[in-house]
Amino acid sequence: MYDWLNALPKAELHLHLEGSLEPELLFALAARNQIALPWADVETLRKAYAFNNLQEFLDLYYQGADVLRTEQDFYDLTWAYLQKCKAQNVIHVEPFFDPQTHTDRGIPFEVVLTGIQQALKDGQQQLGISSGLILSFLRHLSEEEAFKTLEQALPFRDAFIAVGLDSSELGHPPSKFERVFAKARSEGLLAVAHAGEEGPPEYIWQALDLLKVSRIDHGVRAAEDPRLIQRLIDEQIPLTVCPLSNTKLKVFEHMGQHNILKLLEMGVKVTVNSDDPAYFGGYVTENFMALHDGLGMSREQAQKLAQNSLDARLC
Ligand code: HPA
Ligand code: ZN
Repeated sequence: MYDWLNALPKAELHLHLEGSLEPELLFALAARNQIALPWADVETLRKAYAFNNLQEFLDLYYQGADVLRTEQDFYDLTWAYLQKCKAQNVIHVEPFFDPQTHTDRGIPFEVVLTGIQQALKDGQQQLGISSGLILSFLRHLSEEEAFKTLEQALPFRDAFIAVGLDSSELGHPPSKFERVFAKARSEGLLAVAHAGEEGPPEYIWQALDLLKVSRIDHGVRAAEDPRLIQRLIDEQIPLTVCPLSNTKLKVFEHMGQHNILKLLEMGVKVTVNSDDPAYFGGYVTENFMALHDGLGMSREQAQKLAQNSLDARLC
């Protein structure tokens, strides 16, 4: 089954580049940049990847991202991810990056972007993987700080297809970013947002009505609101669902409780994604495999999920 799932042509639409930083590369970059790490070795770090909620993960994820310093580091990070995509027949990617995680540490915006962009370009030319980059704002920071980030990005407007919204969801509703998303859309950028991962269905309504997003990232808590589910079906708004992430962060206690196949059968345009594969135990194929093992996903359902990912591309 793994080989069959692996061979399906797929797109990945919910992937944080910083979350694809494998412990081995993290240690290699720390050595290259002469950074002391609080973990003795790769194994010790891997053992720390046990989370009870989103925030516990984010604390480690931001700490890990500190080893990314140079253009080459961002290139190597992105290139390693694209090679995984190649191995799993992921033919199109729309990855996120979090500029504020880096600019707030004094890494220039241009250093981050240039490294990522060069790898994406090589990915297209050498691996045949098409891509569109999404600039994501950190929602635990202010809207004013998001505006500053957008200003830094606009000279490179053509490098992006969309803006996104990630980090700590509870207490940071989409409404907090209504104006900065309006500005981004006025520049011709599309919009997506994390909503309904830990946050309530109300955050999904806000993402749709206030931020005017083309897709919802996660969105699994939509299941609590029948009117919202009906809207997602009527308007065929894609949800970028991340099964292994959801079980690792205890959004669902175990895979047997995940609602992705129920949503699929109801007619919601759900897709399968890895979110932060280095931290959650797998890339796209492993996420499909987990649905097979934990929920008894059929081949027909897998084909529909893969087709949805191709249909839900922004570019
Ligand atoms: N949710 C919110 N923020 C994130 C995530 C996520 O799953 N991954 C990286 N940043
Ligand atoms: Zn995410």
